[in-house]
Amino acid sequence: MTAKLIDGKAFAATVRAKVAAHVAQIKEENGITPGLAVVLVGEDPASQVYVRSKGKQTVEVGMNSYEYKLAADTSEADLLALIDRLNKDPEVHGILVQLPLPKHLDSDLVINSINPAKDVDGFHISNVGLLGTGQKSMVPCTPLGCLMMLRDYHGSLSGMNAVVIGRSNIVGKPMANLLLGDSCTVTIAHSRTKDLPSVVRQADIVVTAVGRPEMATGDWIKPGATVIDVGINRIERDGKTVLVGDCEFDSCEAVAGAITPVPGGVGPMTIACLLANTLTACCRAHGLREPEGLTA
Ligand code: GUN
Repeated sequence: MTAKLIDGKAFAATVRAKVAAHVAQIKEENGITPGLAVVLVGEDPASQVYVRSKGKQTVEVGMNSYEYKLAADTSEADLLALIDRLNKDPEVHGILVQLPLPKHLDSDLVINSINPAKDVDGFHISNVGLLGTGQKSMVPCTPLGCLMMLRDYHGSLSGMNAVVIGRSNIVGKPMANLLLGDSCTVTIAHSRTKDLPSVVRQADIVVTAVGRPEMATGDWIKPGATVIDVGINRIERDGKTVLVGDCEFDSCEAVAGAITPVPGGVGPMTIACLLANTLTACCRAHGLREPEGLTA
């Protein structure tokens, strides 16, 4: 069997088009423009690239983008003062503080100082608790993107066996909660899991989010299973730097029913879902109808 390729790049473009159409409608009917504030502390090159890309795509869907670039030695008090100002600003519907923060800043304190209703990353402890108890929340962008692709491919996920490899707060744990919310039977596996390949072989849906290049091989995959590869790993191959996922693509693709490639799978969905979350936050703030198909 050769797996169907789940094209995250194309899917992200349809999500952005849906967001743009809804943004145009609320501008026209309600005179409201959703706004996203992105805060970057320091000069980490990878973070600078992400932040630039977020700003560009925000403007492309018709929303306002506010960028705050702070020096690497910014004090916690100054950062918290900026967040307080953004929390109170009615033009700002979403706030994202780019991670990782410089070591002298307490990330948990900073994230938990964001108004949960504007927490478009879904990292605030209130949103984590709401998601964990099946209540309406802001949902972390990467797992939300994975859920959208799974729903699009399968329709209902009810009763499926899902194995999530990785227990991070950003991907693994929220992914497991989302799959549980869609009535999957969920296992969270991690570095201490015994006989990981045999656990993964039980899965109808496999989500890998560990950052270990090409860890999962085709013999781990149940024939016909759906594989969602969240890993983005840079490795040297034949003297070149290449991007690979947590799954060995060729061997998994030969066994799976469907698979996301790296690059071009989950990656492009993350910013698309950030834009979707900003629109959702704006609609909730103003008591407007929420966009369909763009939330959990
Ligand atoms: N750094 C890498 N990924 C992310 C993300 O999804 N959100 C934030 N805030 N920072 C990140």
